[in-house]
Amino acid sequence: MQSFEQQREKFSSFLENYNFPDAPQSLYDGCRHILSIGGKRVRPVMCLMAHDIFSNTTNIDVLNAALAIELFHNFSLVHDDIMDNADIRRGEPTVHKKFSMPTAILAGDVLNVFAYELLNELNAKNSKEIFSLFNKTAIEVCEGQQLDMDFEQQEQVSIDEYLRMIQLKTSVLLASSLSIGAMIGNASEADKNYLYEFGKNVGIAFQLKDDYLDAFGDGDKTGKIVGGDILANKKTIFYCYCMQKADEESMQKIQELQQQSGQDKLANTLSLYEKLGARDYVYQLKDDYSKKAFAALENLSVPQEKLSELKNLARYLLQREH
Ligand code: IPE
Ligand code: IPE
Ligand code: MG
Ligand code: MG
Ligand code: MG
Repeated sequence: MQSFEQQREKFSSFLENYNFPDAPQSLYDGCRHILSIGGKRVRPVMCLMAHDIFSNTTNIDVLNAALAIELFHNFSLVHDDIMDNADIRRGEPTVHKKFSMPTAILAGDVLNVFAYELLNELNAKNSKEIFSLFNKTAIEVCEGQQLDMDFEQQEQVSIDEYLRMIQLKTSVLLASSLSIGAMIGNASEADKNYLYEFGKNVGIAFQLKDDYLDAFGDGDKTGKIVGGDILANKKTIFYCYCMQKADEESMQKIQELQQQSGQDKLANTLSLYEKLGARDYVYQLKDDYSKKAFAALENLSVPQEKLSELKNLARYLLQREH
């Protein structure tokens, strides 16, 4: 089994040979920008790893599928940064900040189309099924992103509603990356589904960690503005927990803070989260989903040694600081 680093290396070489058209330069510079400033490449690596569990030879199909997934992910980030009004991503200006709003909208659109063009190249006999899963996932990501935006305007968002939202906006893409890799490797239906289940739970834990890093992480490492979610009144797991579990007075305090802006808002919200035990709660919840994920892997029909790199990847993702 190849490690995360080795798989990422393989994927990066493939990506380097992928060229966008020359003109209009402004449009494709936007695409090149988002793809050239890093990113962990978690989803394509998951696709390659899942494939390698069932097949020994990395073929062009799985590389094309991995790239389609990464292009789709980057499209979703470019549009997400517009929606979240984010200035910084991966330590660099976001596409709408560096170029313009129209360029960011169009660069996102065209990245999505290029993703489909790559899928159209698949030779696998189950390519139609892969296409359907990709479509289902893309629809769910849009649904999750819309819920995320709707929640900004809502005072009350329950923990369950939040979990449903992150399953859609984030975890299904991780889950499908694994399933698609497995499908290209000719895995059985049952194994494909267990990997999906693993990815879904890792994905939920991954987004919980993302919310955690947004609030308590180190901006130099995350490449994002610390507290961006709080400043934008995003309904993160911290907010939902506090609104569901806090006493009347603290709830009121949180709502008052939502009306404010600036560094005081950030510092006061963070200390309230801490005081109410939200930080510990999120840590525990992340752990619960991580356990669920690992349990799903036990059902796979392959020897557990074949899953060691995938397990390492999940551990890395949930312990990461960026
Ligand atoms: C960011 O995903 C968006 C979320 C779903 C949390 P990643 O943390 O995988 O972003 P990159 O690709 O590594 O920058
Ligand atoms: C993003 O969630 C999910 C998608 C891009 C679909 P976030 O808005 O929390 O992601 P970051 O923190 O900007 O990367
Ligand atoms: Mg967002
Ligand atoms: Mg965002
Ligand atoms: Mg985030």
